[in-house]
Amino acid sequence: MSKTYDVTEKLILGVDMFLKTIFNTQKARRPSPGVDLEEIELSEEDRRDIAGLMRVNHTGEVCAQALYDGQAFVAEKQEIRESLIKAAEEEQDHLAWCYERLDQLSAAPSVLNPFFYLSSFAVGALAGKFGDTLSLGFVEATEAQVVKHLEDHLDRIPEEDLKSRAILGQMVEDEAKHGDHAIEMGGQEFPEFVKKGMSLLSKIMTETTYRV
Ligand SMILES: [Fe+2]
Ligand SMILES: [Fe+2]
Repeated sequence: MSKTYDVTEKLILGVDMFLKTIFNTQKARRPSPGVDLEEIELSEEDRRDIAGLMRVNHTGEVCAQALYDGQAFVAEKQEIRESLIKAAEEEQDHLAWCYERLDQLSAAPSVLNPFFYLSSFAVGALAGKFGDTLSLGFVEATEAQVVKHLEDHLDRIPEEDLKSRAILGQMVEDEAKHGDHAIEMGGQEFPEFVKKGMSLLSKIMTETTYRV
C-alpha cells in the first residue's frame, strides 16, 4: 500500500468520524447502564441542571473522541494506533449513552460540539507529534481530568436520578481503566503544571456547554 493511499484512507476515516460524532450517529456497543432503571419525576429546576451536566459530559466525550482520533492520526507505532482506536470505540458508548440521556431529559447536545471536536483533534494530533510516550501520558492526564469531572457531577445529581447516575458511574470506571492502560502502554505521567493548564481549558468547556 502506498504512503499517499494510507494518508488518504486516514483522512476519509477522520472525516467519517467527525461527521458521526457531530451528528450523533455513533452506535453504542454496550446497552446504556441506565436502561432498566426507573425514571423519576424531576422538578423543572433539577431537570435543567441535570441536562446541563449531561450536556457537558456529552461534549467531554466529543472531545475524548477527537483527542483519540487526532492522536491515532499521527501515532508512530501501529500497536499504539490500534490501542487508541480501541479506546475511541469505548468512548463511543459514552457518547451514545449521554446523547440518549439528554434526549430523555428533553435536552439537546451543545451547539459548540463541532468547534470542540476540531480543537481537540488538533490538540490530540499535536500531542501525538511529540511521540508515543508523551501522547500516552496525555491520555492519562485527560482521563484523570474526566474522572474528576464525573465525580463532581455525581455529587450534584440527585440520588433518585438512577439513570443518569448509572451512566456516569460506568463512565468513571471505564475512564480510569483507559488512563491506567495508557500508562501500561508506556505513557509518561504529565507534570503537575501541564495538568493545571488542561484543567483551565476544560473549565472553559464545562462553563460554556452547561448552557449551550
Ligand atoms: Fe469517555
Ligand atoms: Fe476514556
